[in-house]
Amino acid sequence: MIRVGIYGATGYTGIELAKIFARHPEVEIKFATSDSYVGKKLSEAFPCHFDIPLVAHDAAPLDRIDVAFLALPHGASADYGKRVLDAGASVIDLSADFRLHDAAAYKKWYGLDHHAPELLPQAVYGLPELHRDQIKKTKLLANPGCYPTSVILGLAPIWRANATNDTIIVDSKSGVSGAGRKATDIVHFVQVNENLSPYNIGRVHRHLSEMEQELKLVNPKASLIFSPHLLPVTRGILSTMYVRLTDGWDENRLRQLYAETYCNEPFVRILPSGQFATLTHSNYTNYCTISIHHVADVNQVIICASIDNLIKGASGQAVQNMNLMFGISETTGLL
Ligand SMILES: NC(=O)c1ccc[n+]([C@@H]2O[C@H](COP(=O)([O-])OP(=O)(O)OC[C@H]3O[C@@H](n4cnc5c(N)ncnc54)[C@H](OP(=O)(O)O)[C@@H]3O)[C@@H](O)[C@H]2O)c1
Repeated sequence: MIRVGIYGATGYTGIELAKIFARHPEVEIKFATSDSYVGKKLSEAFPCHFDIPLVAHDAAPLDRIDVAFLALPHGASADYGKRVLDAGASVIDLSADFRLHDAAAYKKWYGLDHHAPELLPQAVYGLPELHRDQIKKTKLLANPGCYPTSVILGLAPIWRANATNDTIIVDSKSGVSGAGRKATDIVHFVQVNENLSPYNIGRVHRHLSEMEQELKLVNPKASLIFSPHLLPVTRGILSTMYVRLTDGWDENRLRQLYAETYCNEPFVRILPSGQFATLTHSNYTNYCTISIHHVADVNQVIICASIDNLIKGASGQAVQNMNLMFGISETTGLL
């Protein structure tokens, strides 16, 4: 059995981890933390049926685990990550603290001095479709952001094949759970309900940094305009990406490219011609669903990619990474 601890169990991604572990045959939860609900059970902190006792973050028994999942806000994760590694266990961080390879970039995008910059060189960006071999060997895993998972999986084949020379326009829409459990004006019911709001559009959203970091590894020319929107649904992300192609591409060649790229990937599905990715294709699953629509008269392609922000965009992908790190079947607990 893999002995796990969950930091931040009362948040949306922490609860999703508990749900996945409940059906994972090779995991045993050794602790779950919360500072706001110390001494209570998870079922008292959130409507669910998990009677897991909650301990303070600082009281987590690190000698009892093989791996800790950090479902904490950025800024808080790095300190706990360091402690867990010092205690000899592995770390899977769902926050942004170890995603960017460079502490200066972290400061620029997150406005914070990094608390453990010395650990950044050993952190592996946990997108299995790009970095599976490195993931298998690491003890410090930076789980990707939700928007970046949909965008990188949607666009990596295009950049790898050098099929465009242009900045790509990405229009993404996310359900409200993407903002976490803390109530703010932006996610207030009255602001969200029957509404659709762009926010941080252009080149200012924090996730742009990790999308370009990873896509530039595939092709140094990669550049994006990223326009996220808040959608009045609980969960799910749909990213629609408009790509001006170089000469010589048509629908068949594009389909062949995506089919070859993802034919062995257990959690990426390419839809047949005429079908378009929707939230429903991916919600409550660890799949990323991709559709391809070539607009021949202007030689552009529209790629749509959907994921569940809490599963392939967070906790499901974190478990996929744990499975790889501990040498068990990648899909365990996720199908
Ligand atoms: N939501 C998503 O779709 C999604 C997707 C990908 C990645 N992520 C990332 O995953 C992490 C967790 O996200 P979430 O949506 O689950 O967040 P959340 O719902 O806001 O929950 C955050 C958790 O962290 C704890 N916490 C809050 N402030 C803290 C602090 N200053 N120090 C230590 N612990 C603190 C809370 O525990 P208490 O009970 O003590 O308050 C809570 O359990 C974030 O870094 C987020 O960016 C989220």
